[in-house]
Amino acid sequence: MPFYVPWTDDLDLDAFLAFHRTAWADWQPGKWTLNLIAFLDGKPIGSQDVGAQSFATTREVATGSWLGAPYQGQGLGTEQRAAVLELAFSGLGAKAAVSGSFAHNVKSQRVSEKLGYRKLGTRTMQSRGEPGEHYDYRLDRGDWRSPVHIELLGLERALPLFGVA
Ligand SMILES: CC(C)(COP(=O)(O)OP(=O)(O)OC[C@H]1O[C@@H](n2cnc3c(N)ncnc32)[C@H](O)[C@@H]1OP(=O)(O)O)[C@@H](O)C(=O)NCCC(=O)NCCS
Repeated sequence: MPFYVPWTDDLDLDAFLAFHRTAWADWQPGKWTLNLIAFLDGKPIGSQDVGAQSFATTREVATGSWLGAPYQGQGLGTEQRAAVLELAFSGLGAKAAVSGSFAHNVKSQRVSEKLGYRKLGTRTMQSRGEPGEHYDYRLDRGDWRSPVHIELLGLERALPLFGVA
């Protein structure tokens, strides 16, 4: 359980759907979170979010990832993070992407390192009410090279929704 909010401890479908619907309902160009679902062979296997506040000004996004346990460790987490990074950098004109993980979460750290992020530092965050060592990562646009081919389709009409003129 690597999250600040331990949502995988007690996964409830209604709460899961409500979370996604609320993200749509609360969407504003100045504050948005795009919660995407990753599919493998037509089956949902995980989620990948990318979000920003005041993106038009900051040009900075933050991401979060989760893959079902049977699908971890096969390169899929790297692919799904790369997909939203390509959306952010090439599609939306982001200048930087940030991410973070608890110190014990080596898979997440490895994904960040493989994709070119720099480790910024360490701080203490809480999970399940306990303190944990947490690493912050940042990827600047100049360091971004996607390891997989990614095609962005139909984005142009949606750009104003992201605060991009
Ligand atoms: C984090 C997560 C999204 C990564 O996705 P993934 O598909 O498992 O990751 P990948 O297979 O693309 O890459 C994992 C990397 O970690 C490496 N790795 C795995 N276990 C490791 C270990 N114990 N020590 C060191 N490296 C390890 C793998 O070898 C791989 O690196 P490589 O390609 O250089 O060999 C996924 O594991 C997940 O959903 N975990 C649970 C939820 C979570 O932690 N979310 C992120 C919260 S910050």
